[in-house]
Amino acid sequence: MKNLITARGLTKRFSVQRGLKTHWVHAVDDLNFSIGEGECVGLVGESGCGKTILSRLLSRMIDPTSGSIMFDQVDLTKMPTKKFADSLHRAQIQIVFQDPTESLNPHFTAFQAVADPLRRLMSNLSAAEVEEKVNQAFDDVGLPRALGSRYPHQLSGGQKARIGIARAIAVEPRLLILDEPTSALDVSVQSTILRLLGELRAKRGMSYLFVTHDLEVVRIISDRILVMYLGKIIESGPANQVFENPVHPYTKALLAASPDPARRGIKTQRLEGSASSPIDPDPNVCRFAGRCPVEMSNCRSVMPPLIEVEEGHHAACHRAEPRGAQVTHLPSRKPAFPNSGVRQ
Ligand SMILES: Nc1ncnc2c1ncn2[C@@H]1O[C@H](COP(=O)(O)OP(=O)(O)O)[C@@H](O)[C@H]1O
Ligand code: SF4
Ligand SMILES: [Mg+2]
Repeated sequence: MKNLITARGLTKRFSVQRGLKTHWVHAVDDLNFSIGEGECVGLVGESGCGKTILSRLLSRMIDPTSGSIMFDQVDLTKMPTKKFADSLHRAQIQIVFQDPTESLNPHFTAFQAVADPLRRLMSNLSAAEVEEKVNQAFDDVGLPRALGSRYPHQLSGGQKARIGIARAIAVEPRLLILDEPTSALDVSVQSTILRLLGELRAKRGMSYLFVTHDLEVVRIISDRILVMYLGKIIESGPANQVFENPVHPYTKALLAASPDPARRGIKTQRLEGSASSPIDPDPNVCRFAGRCPVEMSNCRSVMPPLIEVEEGHHAACHRAEPRGAQVTHLPSRKPAFPNSGVRQ
């Protein structure tokens, strides 16, 4: 699969002043990953781990502190955000925000909301062509065209979510970034929107970065998963491998917290407490130390790098065994019942 977008060393820090001293929030820290043409990558991690900042970096709404974002052999980070906003790439990378109510202009009708990016980003279109594309987007997201004259306050949550998606796909993006697109919706509406997103991807062949804190959602929709913890990617790989054979203790804990861990045979401790501070983290300490149930002494002196544990499956943990390494189990760690499917 050809890569559509590739991030290298992508980093975003925010300065915060405490008294006379400047400190740094490490929101996104040295991320390296790609999203393939037509691929859906799920990005998971708990609140505050950097998912929205990463989404905003990739869509060039904010500048990175360092690193590159290659899209079609162009490093988007070399383009100032203002210049990017007027470039062809702006249409090709679209973002759907978390809360459809907040992201829609209350003074725009549904039609105007979808027409607005078309007029701004495809200024060569005639009024008739804009109308045709708006109608097509309404049809694609299953919105009756008659709703075009309504304002956001006259629409349901599900209808507003559909407008947010219609607005993003109308300009025919190649990458759609969905930042928790269903988290503000009722459960019944969530599944309809997820189904719609699956159908749209099949129909339009877009790539997705699907951001969520909900592993079950990501499992339904993603080909590959990135797991983030305190600004770092700590595990990545094909969705089935990450779900069936999670390696990082944090991923295991996330899976254990989802509704039916026993079904997947994952035996682990539940995650206690909250993540440590993203302000000035020690570069030599694993970000999960202090919360990790299987911490070792070197976890606080060496930051674990991402290593390949299976083909295309990476994890950043000192306990992870590199792919191809000879596996030697100590007698005490052997499962009581070989082939029982229980993983430690
Ligand atoms: N403008 C900002 N100034 C300082 N810190 C920020 C700013 N924006 C976000 N952060 C911090 O960056 C981290 C990542 O935030 P965010 O990407 O919104 O998390 P998520 O979307 O995963 O919940 C958080 O610790 C957040 O407090
Ligand atoms: S490196 Fe150590 S602290 Fe970090 S996840 Fe692995 S075992 Fe836990
Ligand atoms: Mg967020």
